[in-house]
Amino acid sequence: MLEVLNHPLITHKLTQMRRKECGTKDFRENLDEIAELMAYEVCRDLPTNPIEIETPVAKCTGYELSKEVVIVPILRAGIGLLDGIRRLVPTAKVGFIGMYRDETTLEPVEYFAKFPSHLEDAIVMVVDPMLATGGSAKDAIAQIKKRGAKNIKLVCLVAAPEGVKVIQKTHPDVDVYIAALDDHLNEQGYIVPGLGDAGDRIFGTK
Ligand code: PRP
Ligand code: URA
Repeated sequence: MLEVLNHPLITHKLTQMRRKECGTKDFRENLDEIAELMAYEVCRDLPTNPIEIETPVAKCTGYELSKEVVIVPILRAGIGLLDGIRRLVPTAKVGFIGMYRDETTLEPVEYFAKFPSHLEDAIVMVVDPMLATGGSAKDAIAQIKKRGAKNIKLVCLVAAPEGVKVIQKTHPDVDVYIAALDDHLNEQGYIVPGLGDAGDRIFGTK
């Protein structure tokens, strides 16, 4: 399943981020706000359990989230989506996977992994602003599946059609949520039009 979350507020904020003159502070703030808006949609189908409660007026049946949510940002740039999602799901646990793309081969290299236990029962949101060749997300999801996760959602800001195809082919069970499906990848593996290097723009490197 591929869902493009092109709500006007998300599209407006993404447009600010795409501008080359958008500085680190505005870039990070817009990404944080988009993460919260996307989380609202991504969480739409979270399962709930009925629970009997008492309001100041009467007894009634309420509904509570029934599954643990685990957010896994792909380092570095995925960190930019973490706080916005946690504001909506403050009980979520957080795992980390560190991947960088080798600049010549474009192959992902894993350098860190730390996950909460019991991923098999959780809804795991893998988050990264950019889905380019799809290599980083593909490998991150494979690592998370190896630790038992069965219910995985991939949340990205901007995707290239090439990356979406890779995920749909290698992980057809994973639901993919993006804010924009861009045109193509250039020879350097950058998404066109994209927004440049997300990690550098979030953290002010380069
Ligand atoms: C970026 C981005 C993704 C990856 C996407 O990370 O945040 O993780 O590239 O490219 P792919 O789909 O072709 O794998 P990068 O390698 O620049 O590392 P960084 O987040 O540490 O800057
Ligand atoms: N990683 C980025 O940060 N940007 C791209 O366009 C592609 C990969």
